[in-house]
Amino acid sequence: MKVRSFIAYILVMLTIVWAIATTSTAAPPVPPRPESPTESLRSLAAKRDFFIGGAVQPQLLQNDSTYREVFAREFNILIPENHTKFWRLHPERDRYDFSQADAIVQFANEHNIKVMGHALVWFHALPRWVVEGNFSREELMEILHDHIQTVVGHYRGQIYAWDVVNEPVEANGSFRETIWYKTIGPEYLDLALRWTREADPDTLLYINDYAEGLNSKSQSFYNLAKDLRQRGAPLDAVGFQTHLGFLSADNSEEVAENMKRYAELGLDVMITEMDVPIDKFSGTPEEQLEAQAKMYRDFLKICLDASNCNTLVMWGFTDRHSWLTGFTGSKDPLIFDKSYQPKPAYHAMWEELKGTD
Ligand code: XIL
Repeated sequence: MKVRSFIAYILVMLTIVWAIATTSTAAPPVPPRPESPTESLRSLAAKRDFFIGGAVQPQLLQNDSTYREVFAREFNILIPENHTKFWRLHPERDRYDFSQADAIVQFANEHNIKVMGHALVWFHALPRWVVEGNFSREELMEILHDHIQTVVGHYRGQIYAWDVVNEPVEANGSFRETIWYKTIGPEYLDLALRWTREADPDTLLYINDYAEGLNSKSQSFYNLAKDLRQRGAPLDAVGFQTHLGFLSADNSEEVAENMKRYAELGLDVMITEMDVPIDKFSGTPEEQLEAQAKMYRDFLKICLDASNCNTLVMWGFTDRHSWLTGFTGSKDPLIFDKSYQPKPAYHAMWEELKGTD
């Protein structure tokens, strides 16, 4: 018995020595686990120097960790949906409130996300003190100058692009009759652009409207941009809102044509507020989702293909939160569903950004 157990002991020891010798020399290293089976939209976009993003709301960034994490994972540019509008930042003549917008900018900085500001001059989202102030031309110019200097100065160096004037034209070719236009005159646009450039020389300046296709409204907008350029106003780009459920033209070929003529003026185009409600399409729910995906794909493609478009921002990113729910009642216009799962539109954009390596 003793001899047998001694032999068994020797055999076990030999096996252990052999195992140690072979694992330390011959065995291949264990491969690291793949981090994630797919890449995000933002990582694909970054490889092509492209910006893909959405509008955000600060209270959701603060209170909904999934909202925050999905946004940071997928996007490299954002627009505050409401919190850089005039009445949010400047609620009283002598009082500014940057708290909510600052929180958005801080989130963006932490995640290396670019920020676009929206909108310094607009006829909506004005505080009562502006609308009801009965100001003279000189007073309103002074108010606008102070607003731009203070807001753009506050974020100097931190804003990738400023929407300086939002929705300046009418469909019939005329200027929109806003308080700015009526009180200051058409030069309010030149002044606003110049004051923005002075307050932050390194940010891109754009005007923004639903003027994407080829029609009388987009002609007005084009003429305005051309005049501003010719007059030497500091205008770098135009924004196409791209709300494809209403107001905006959804013919992507026309939009591609329109982008081209801005390139000839030396202007970039950014898609700034894209959304595509599902009830725009007929058919089964699956067919509607596919039609929506095709539209997101087509618009991303025309921007990728254009020489002067490198930014596509959606008006939100998850169907859980869209302004259209309260505004037109139309449904599910974005690329993540209400549970933050990617929809066919997400996959279509993913493929388009991936391209053929
Ligand atoms: C909308 C916001 O999404 C809403 O939350 C708000 O109540 C009203 O404004 N064009 C624009 C945006 O330029 O500022 C608008 O945003 C949508 C239409």
